[in-house]
Amino acid sequence: MKTKMSLENENLLGETPSPILKKAVRSAKDPKEPKDKSTPKVVDPRNALNDLTSSEWIAETVSVWNQRGLGAGHPDAQIERQHPAPFSFTDVSRLIKFFTKAGHTVLDPFVGVGSTLKACAIEGRKGIGFELSPKYAALAEERLSKEVRSLFSDDSEQKILIGDSKELSKTLPENSLDFVVTSPPYWNILHKKDHKAKQERVIHELDTQYSEDKRDLGNVSDYDDFLEQVSSILGDCARALKPKKYMAVIVSDFRDKSRFYMFHSDLVNALAKYKLELRSLNILYQRHKRIFPYGYPYAYVPNIHHQYIVILQKGV
Ligand SMILES: C[S@@+](CC[C@H](N)C(=O)[O-])C[C@H]1O[C@@H](n2cnc3c(N)ncnc32)[C@H](O)[C@@H]1O
Repeated sequence: MKTKMSLENENLLGETPSPILKKAVRSAKDPKEPKDKSTPKVVDPRNALNDLTSSEWIAETVSVWNQRGLGAGHPDAQIERQHPAPFSFTDVSRLIKFFTKAGHTVLDPFVGVGSTLKACAIEGRKGIGFELSPKYAALAEERLSKEVRSLFSDDSEQKILIGDSKELSKTLPENSLDFVVTSPPYWNILHKKDHKAKQERVIHELDTQYSEDKRDLGNVSDYDDFLEQVSSILGDCARALKPKKYMAVIVSDFRDKSRFYMFHSDLVNALAKYKLELRSLNILYQRHKRIFPYGYPYAYVPNIHHQYIVILQKGV
């Protein structure tokens, strides 16, 4: 179990905060928090959002995160690897711990190989995932049963529904969700011929796109059409959120030939009509990504090694 002292020195993922952050955490600390290591942790009775103490809460408000994965060689990364664009369940765990309490319900409308549901099982939350591809839905089931099945008592706690999120999100009952966390397809960038990371997947005979299905948002050819479809799905999910609850969408900007698309910004603007209000744009630094010599020696072309965790709140 973590002691109060160790919580002061590291955040929930074991990162050591800067001296300035340590000072901020100390000065904002609730005087009612226990001094004795053996005393159980105290959650402020006014805190209806999560189960964190004041020092745990404050450490999580820093807007730059380092992406943490298991590493490709880890035995529990072998199912995840079969998907072309999974996110890390440890990053999702962090979001789930901040935006929900134990027993709350979390939805991921693009669940892929089930990273969100794995995080829900670890954190004691109920998870619902929508996935169009029967192959990834089956891998998600396999992943839950191999990696975390002992952590939840009943199958209905982690549910995967196979189908089109456009239809499934319309069936969600109002006020049924405590949190939505997801990462949608990034338009059709997996189809790009110069997608360098793709070449390695080809060598290892791994999927380089999600599916051939026309309903797959990764196969929509027009960007504005794609944006309209993804925002309307997230809008339907927002309708099912309880009042003032949150949605976190992990996205990256991208290039198509010489045009740079500010996808995070376009998405935030498109979601405004669904009363989803922007609260934060956290940077998720992907420090493990490979660097490719894009543009060299002719032009500046970045290696995009960060994603945005777009945090939105359901307005009234
Ligand atoms: C970026 S991936 C999500 C990966 C997931 N976060 C994980 O860790 O495995 C997007 C997923 O959306 C799915 N998808 C695309 N269009 C969809 C649709 N219309 N309905 C449901 N799922 C869809 C794709 O098959 C893909 O698995």
